[in-house]
Amino acid sequence: MRIVVSIGGSVLAPDLDPERVRGHATVIDGLVEDGHEVATVVGGGGVARRYIGTARELGASEYDLDALGIDVTRLNARLLVTALDSSATPEPAESHEAARASLRRGEVAVMGGTVPGHTTDAVSALLAEMVDADLLIYATSVPGVFSADPKEVDDAERYDRLTASELVDVISSIETAAGSNAPVDLLAAKIIERSGLRAVVLDGTDPDRIADAVAGDAFDGTEVVPNE
Ligand code: UTP
Repeated sequence: MRIVVSIGGSVLAPDLDPERVRGHATVIDGLVEDGHEVATVVGGGGVARRYIGTARELGASEYDLDALGIDVTRLNARLLVTALDSSATPEPAESHEAARASLRRGEVAVMGGTVPGHTTDAVSALLAEMVDADLLIYATSVPGVFSADPKEVDDAERYDRLTASELVDVISSIETAAGSNAPVDLLAAKIIERSGLRAVVLDGTDPDRIADAVAGDAFDGTEVVPNE
């Protein structure tokens, strides 16, 4: 399979623990050994948020805050490249075109953000769309898509399976609720919908769940299927 794995910064490097990064790299190496083509998009997490918060107080524009966030995602991407044994392209890709070229050379593509105005959720969905991925995996810090932000709403219900249109509806309602966070943002959900991508949202704090989802084993998360 051709797989795009989106790894949140808060999942890969909340504390810059080498063992945690190695754990994710081992899973990606395992997927490559099993014959899959893998591209990985890495987020910025709490470190990006701290930089952005500090720069906002210093008066930076939203564009420049995004640029700062992108730099952090690329730092995290570089960290993952360092831990990979398989033939990852040594420099994180700075564009979708560069990531696709890596895949075509038979290398693991690793990238962070691209341009201001969106997040790595959308970058991952666009990459999956561009390379016609068989599966897009969001390794986040929550175990799937819920009816509301589980950190805000106690009885939020987790969905095991959603169509892409249902995903768009759920994310729209979560993003409308003040202070709530959706595990995947709306732009990403719309890209998944328009291209009929098969996607999975899972708790990536244990990277083995990524391998389980690829193997088709029970993986404790939400599966997103193209509209019927
Ligand atoms: P993330 O993708 O980590 O954003 O990029 P996020 O959704 O806020 O993080 P999680 O999912 O909660 O961990 C960090 C920041 O970098 C900028 C945005 O400001 C984003 O919030 N960014 C990232 C871009 O502007 N463009 C990109 O392509 C990627």
